[in-house]
Parts: sequence; C-alpha cells; structure tokens
Amino acid sequence: MLKGKVAVVTGGADGIGRKIALELAGAGAKIAIMDINLDKAHQTREETIQAGGIAVASKVDITQSEEVDAGFKQVISEFGQVDILVNNAGFFRLSNEFKNLQEHEWLDMFNINVHGVFRCCRAVLPLMEERQSGKIINIASIAGVAGIAKMAIYSASKGAVISFSKALAMETGKHNITVNCISPGQLKSYGEDADRGTYLKHSGDLGTETAHLVRFLASSDGDYITGANYIIDGGRVLGARKA
Ligand SMILES: NC(=O)c1ccc[n+]([C@@H]2O[C@H](COP(=O)([O-])OP(=O)(O)OC[C@H]3O[C@@H](n4cnc5c(N)ncnc54)[C@H](O)[C@@H]3O)[C@@H](O)[C@H]2O)c1
Repeated sequence: MLKGKVAVVTGGADGIGRKIALELAGAGAKIAIMDINLDKAHQTREETIQAGGIAVASKVDITQSEEVDAGFKQVISEFGQVDILVNNAGFFRLSNEFKNLQEHEWLDMFNINVHGVFRCCRAVLPLMEERQSGKIINIASIAGVAGIAKMAIYSASKGAVISFSKALAMETGKHNITVNCISPGQLKSYGEDADRGTYLKHSGDLGTETAHLVRFLASSDGDYITGANYIIDGGRVLGARKA
C-alpha cells in the first residue's frame, strides 16, 4: 500500500507516534523517526526492523530549526525523498487554570505544538513541491475543536494546528500536496477515565485507531482528501450525554 514511500514521523519514538511509525512501516513505507529522545527512537527503529520494516532514527528537537533542517537533510541522504510527513510530536500534560499559568509555559507549549509543526512543514514543503506530491498529516486534538478547561493553552495550540492545516491545504493543493489533521480524544495511555464523556463503552486504544487513519490518509485512498480534520474520540465532542 505504501511501498516505495518515505514517511517522517516526529515524536515517533513513543506513544501515538510509535504506533504510527510501526503502522506505516507495516504498510511498506520506509520510516524516519525524528524524536528528542534518541534512545527510545532507536528502540522503535529496532522494533520496526524486527517487524520486517525499514527505518532510521535521528535526534531532532522540533523547537530547534537547525535540528529540524538537519534531520530532513539526513532523511534525504538516507532515502532520497519524503512522501509523507506526520507531525505528531506534541506536549500534552499541562493542567492548570489559565490565570495560574506563567507566560513561559504558553510560549513553551506553542513552540512545540505549533511552531514545531511550522518548522517541519517549512523543511518538507520544498522537497514535496519539487516532486509535485506529498501528504502532510498533523496530529491535533479534540481540545483544539471544543476547548478543554484547565488546558486553555493546549486547546489554543491544537486549534492553531487545525486552522493552519486548512490554510496550508489551500496553498499546497496546486502542488498535489494534501494536508489533513487528526484530532484524537483522550487515549487510554493517559488514565483510567479515558472513556469518560464518550458515547462508547471503551476508550481509544493507545493510538491504534489514529495510526490506522494516518495509514489511510497517507495512501492513495486519501488522494482526494485535503483540509479535513478527523475526530477520533468515541463521540466525546458531540455534546450532551444521556441520549
Ligand atoms: N495521548 C492522548 O490522549 C492524546 C490525545 C489527543 C492528542 N494527542 C496528541 O498526540 C500527539 C502524541 O501524543 P502522545 O500521547 O503519543 O505523546 P507522548 O508523550 O506519549 O509521545 C510524544 C513523543 O514526542 C517526543 N517529543 C516530545 N517533545 C519533542 C520535541 N520537542 N521534539 C521532538 N520530539 C519530541 C517524545 O520524546 C515522545 O516520543 C501529541 O501531539 C498530542 O498532543 C494525544
């Protein structure tokens, strides 16, 4: 399905990103894991290779433009092209009322969740434009759709990713580059009550559903889909309970 394709997954060492890396490798893509945690990135790379895939791993902190640019250069020297970029790396655990947050906390969160996405898109777009082909998939959150109390800055950061993706989709369509978002709800990895507020009796399974949707959007099945934001949350953002 993705044979001959090269996919970059930021934050691909752990969590949802690890699932995405393994899923895309399982579909035949060569994987470049870019993560701030090189040890874990190597573990996921090994796991991918053990499963029969092809993968490289590099230490890239997406808050650092030079590291991002160097990371993409390395992918080009290893694999010669980038067909798929999954902007997954993001910072999540900041739970406090807005009035209690320090300015440096907002700035840090935007630097990873928003500017990190900008940096990776800026690095990959010339490569994709040159080949007149590409798929960019950004991992946002339902926080960016509905807002979540005590996560005001996180919500704002993910809202920014969603609107950025739509605007970028409008600019890149002429180059045959699609840009889409996936907005998961809370996953099991973040607590026992992950199914709270959903309409289903189970929670998201540690990113598996997200990884499956990334694989779909990255494949030719997703060729006519751009500017979309897919919510995977068991219906949590639908509103009032007790239907
Ligand atoms: N887990 C959830 O419930 C949930 C829900 C909705 C959205 N999301 C989003 O999904 C994405 C992945 O979340 P997760 O739960 O798998 O997170 P995680 O913390 O389990 O994994 C994040 C990965 O990103 C890497 N990373 C962190 N900062 C980085 C940086 N500056 N540069 C490069 N890599 C960096 C980490 O080392 C780690 O490997 C995030 O964007 C998050 O906001 C998660």
